[in-house]
Amino acid sequence: MNKPKVVLIGALMDPALEKLQNFCSVKQWDEQQSIPQEILMEWVADAEGLIVNNSVTVNEELLQHAPRLKVIAQVSVGYDNVDIEACSKYKIPFGNTPGVLVDATANLAFSLLLCSTRRIHEGWDFIRSNSWALGHRLALGTDIAGKTLGIVGMGQIGAAVAQRANAFGMNVIYYNRNRRQDDEKIGAAYQSFEFLLKESDAIIVLTPLSQETRGLFGPAEFRKMKSTACFINVSRGSVVDTDALVEALQTGEIAYAALDVTDPEPLAQDHPILKLSNILITPHIGSATLETRTAMAQLTVDNILAGLADRPMAACVNA
Ligand code: DGY
Repeated sequence: MNKPKVVLIGALMDPALEKLQNFCSVKQWDEQQSIPQEILMEWVADAEGLIVNNSVTVNEELLQHAPRLKVIAQVSVGYDNVDIEACSKYKIPFGNTPGVLVDATANLAFSLLLCSTRRIHEGWDFIRSNSWALGHRLALGTDIAGKTLGIVGMGQIGAAVAQRANAFGMNVIYYNRNRRQDDEKIGAAYQSFEFLLKESDAIIVLTPLSQETRGLFGPAEFRKMKSTACFINVSRGSVVDTDALVEALQTGEIAYAALDVTDPEPLAQDHPILKLSNILITPHIGSATLETRTAMAQLTVDNILAGLADRPMAACVNA
């Protein structure tokens, strides 16, 4: 029997890759640079399955070039690069990887909070620049116990961050498109966006990127924050107006930022944000642990195999 053809964009951890290759004929793009859209269109022309990551644009035009496509799966929880309505229009189930990356991403978000408030990165620069040996003083950090953490976007990752913040003695508030019914259980109190901006000592952004959240943090929002506030983004870079953030950090409207995601991504080497000293940036590594990426690969392959066999996926966005 012929194996179904699956196009795979990017790397996939074993043993999931091995499992995929056992059941499917796999054509893989594993180059450093993103696959050009015209090549992707050629590749999907006879594909039944497509595995992507968030560097790939899945739009109606691509689907029109894929008459045999039965299923798409993405190795991430966010899917702002995918036109879900178009997938549904062409009756193509789209799977993602919620759940399995919750702890890894919450840990990264909380690490950024601790690194920011305790000036870990500045301490390392201080050592490397010989400032310690020269007798200079490193500015003091701040405690987080008793401080208010504002979480914007309270899904599973937000709840996991709230759990960690509670363990560190923080008062947690959140803003979410829909108010949750389990504030007591997650240890966080719903507040208006306005209130959260004004009252938080640290803000962690975890909201998905959508039409409503694109540019959610601009000049007016930074102006409302405390001048001592620490701003952390672990969702998508485009939720933040990068120029406005640079200005807020330069003028002291806020004290510090830590970003795991940026707009653009990656940043050009001469980007003004890289010249600031009150910022820490990591290269979109929220889910980047061996165990988590292995589980994400497994779920992705399970999603693809289910779709190819006309079975329900474990995690389907447009079921
Ligand atoms: C996700 O899963 O959405 C991560 O941000 C990786 O893109």
